[in-house]
Amino acid sequence: MSAIRSLEFDVKDINLASQGKQRIEWSERDMPVLRLIRERFAADQPLKGIKLVACAHITTETANLARALQAGGAEAVLIASNPLSTQDDVAASLVADWGIPVFAIKGETTDTYNRHVRTALDFHPQIIIDDGSDVVATLIKERREQVKELVGSTEETTTGIQRLEAIHKAGLLSFPAVAVNNAQTKHFFDNRYGTGQSTLDGIIRATNILLAGRNLVVVGYGWCGKGVALRARGMGANVIVTEVDAIKAVEAVMDGFRVMPIAEAAPLGDIFVTVTGNRHVIDGQHFSAMKDGAIVCNSGHFDLELNLVALREKSESAVKIRPFVEEYKLKGSGRRIIVLGEGRLINLAAAEGHPASVMDMSFANQALSVEYLVKNEGKLEPGVHLLPPEVDIEIASLKLRALGLSIDTLTAEQLEYISSWETGT
Ligand SMILES: NC(=O)c1ccc[n+]([C@@H]2O[C@H](COP(=O)([O-])OP(=O)(O)OC[C@H]3O[C@@H](n4cnc5c(N)ncnc54)[C@H](O)[C@@H]3O)[C@@H](O)[C@H]2O)c1
Repeated sequence: MSAIRSLEFDVKDINLASQGKQRIEWSERDMPVLRLIRERFAADQPLKGIKLVACAHITTETANLARALQAGGAEAVLIASNPLSTQDDVAASLVADWGIPVFAIKGETTDTYNRHVRTALDFHPQIIIDDGSDVVATLIKERREQVKELVGSTEETTTGIQRLEAIHKAGLLSFPAVAVNNAQTKHFFDNRYGTGQSTLDGIIRATNILLAGRNLVVVGYGWCGKGVALRARGMGANVIVTEVDAIKAVEAVMDGFRVMPIAEAAPLGDIFVTVTGNRHVIDGQHFSAMKDGAIVCNSGHFDLELNLVALREKSESAVKIRPFVEEYKLKGSGRRIIVLGEGRLINLAAAEGHPASVMDMSFANQALSVEYLVKNEGKLEPGVHLLPPEVDIEIASLKLRALGLSIDTLTAEQLEYISSWETGT
């Protein structure tokens, strides 16, 4: 019996498995690229015997990634990458129906979350799939002797890659890490269309408010911010963008949005969404300037984009009024500020995260990155790597085929023309 088989699991209720299985199979219908990879993995066994830890949002889509890795021969353990994002029925089904140890409970405390990270490291992974770099950071801080066992890691999100770059700069990244987020077939679609739609889905499920006619402030106009702004406009909101990057700010202006500093946007906004990957982008003084009833939420990776410590200090009370909806009453003015999902990723806390159709490409990148690390064991320099560009093109081509679409190919004449310099006006 391998080490993994003797591991336990920690899920909310194993009896939720049959509902979870149905939902996993439902999302699989929209993940044709990952399915093709799973079928190839099952035949070729490229991950045979590889011990792997995946720290991810435990959703139906992640379950399908886990199935693909398992089909490829990997022994995988799953833990949550956020205390609020776990779908308990999915966690139960992965254990009961696929025999995959999962350590994740929706609403787990930060202590439990950290304990699960350490439990995963007890498994001595050779590959780490990370989302936010918590497992890699814990490995480097607390288990330095285990680093040599690692073939490499993959990183799902923007914030995690920033952390990996910082680890590398500090001279502590002694293995290859694949920046999955930086693949075009990941952030063009997942961050923009996935976060765009699912963030609004989370706000609406939590509050049931009408977006039409409201001022919605998007803090950060990166890939996620663009998606949120685009979709909010589509639902009739008046979108205001705040930025610190002049180029992104001009882009937002040209895309037709009002752009201003957060101090000016604070008294105007009805709804605020932070998507910066940065800290305290809505701070104490901004909460003080907001309208009565302003709704504030975050869809960036960590829960410190909103300075909730400052908000608590400024408030005389905080009352939970619906699931994922907490009302703070400011001292003095009595104005109410509504915080959604405790400032954690609202699309995963109050909704189901990104739809399967975009996660199909994100997780195709994950599965192929793991295969790439295993195939190139010992050959890749320590540091942050991109998948080869042909993998991006292959994933996009498979997606087009799955959508029943085809595109043109360059003729020999065109190919020659675009690679020559002689012909001009
Ligand atoms: N909710 C989700 O499911 C989901 C999905 C993908 C990524 N993310 C996370 O969302 C965050 C953003 O990701 P991204 O890919 O859009 O990153 P990005 O780098 O493309 O964009 C972030 C933007 O925020 C801006 N910014 C930084 N500090 C700011 C400040 N104080 N005020 C205003 N703007 C500021 C930056 O200039 C940049 O344009 C990251 O934490 C990422 O990990 C979440």
